[in-house]
Amino acid sequence: MRAPVEALSLHGRHAVVVGADGGFGTAITAALEAAGASVVGMDLRGEGEHTIAVDVSDADSVRAAFDELAGRVPKLDILVNTAGIREIEPLATLAPETWQRVLAVNLTGPFLCIQAALPLLRAAQGAAVVNIASIAGLTGMANRPAYTASKHGLVGLTRNLAHDLGPDKIRVNAVAPGTIRTPMTEGYYADQTFLRQAEAMVPLGFDGSAADVADAVLYLAGPLARHVTGVVLPVDGGFTAQMNYAPLGAGPAYEGDQDSTS
Ligand SMILES: NC(=O)c1ccc[n+]([C@@H]2O[C@H](COP(=O)([O-])OP(=O)(O)OC[C@H]3O[C@@H](n4cnc5c(N)ncnc54)[C@H](O)[C@@H]3O)[C@@H](O)[C@H]2O)c1
Repeated sequence: MRAPVEALSLHGRHAVVVGADGGFGTAITAALEAAGASVVGMDLRGEGEHTIAVDVSDADSVRAAFDELAGRVPKLDILVNTAGIREIEPLATLAPETWQRVLAVNLTGPFLCIQAALPLLRAAQGAAVVNIASIAGLTGMANRPAYTASKHGLVGLTRNLAHDLGPDKIRVNAVAPGTIRTPMTEGYYADQTFLRQAEAMVPLGFDGSAADVADAVLYLAGPLARHVTGVVLPVDGGFTAQMNYAPLGAGPAYEGDQDSTS
């Protein structure tokens, strides 16, 4: 039997985290490095030895970033797509430019990155892609038409590529986080009404962290998930597992209800 630490080890693996400077990107990078992987970050502001600048919405920029990566590493075992932006804007006032921008970063971005990484992923002979989707990729969310559409699209891309890249032994999975405190969501946490509502809607409690998302990435990117592809793993404290009828309690009794004790 393997020791647990060996089953989780990513020693000798090369990884790229796209969106490395963000809340999730920072936690995912730390988790992959702690497991032994050698990680290169990519982000808009990327600079320095371990980060490469990229705008994922720009095909030329993505190509240049992965060309630079190919000069540094012989193969890519793990690609994590976590760069993203969010709009909160109802349909009536959503500008077409905003719609395009959100789709360009959240959906076209992962497509361009996976496509540009393909030769390096193939060279690994057993690689893993993990896309950071959202609960908004699994269910509708108020006043976020572009974000919700982009994340549903990313879930579709994940499932398609699980099929298409299977013969190359490239696994493609997604994580669907619930709302978690990062620079993207910081604004929510000043709103006491929102916090009370959120707490009532999450069975495990509204206290998920970026580390919880990173741990799911570790599983999907690592050897324990060797026969797992095309899945979307919610890390949402149970939010999408249930319809919350808390205000109704157990709900009204119906005439036909049976009392099992009688
Ligand atoms: N925080 C949450 O509650 C939550 C929930 C579900 C899904 N997500 C998703 O997780 C991912 C990471 O979110 P986060 O909370 O860490 O947000 P964040 O704002 O902290 O990080 C996002 C990162 O993406 C980078 N980025 C944005 N546009 C880019 C571009 N065009 N090219 C390259 N990099 C770009 C930013 O520079 C930033 O470092 C996003 O895709 C987001 O939609 C977040």
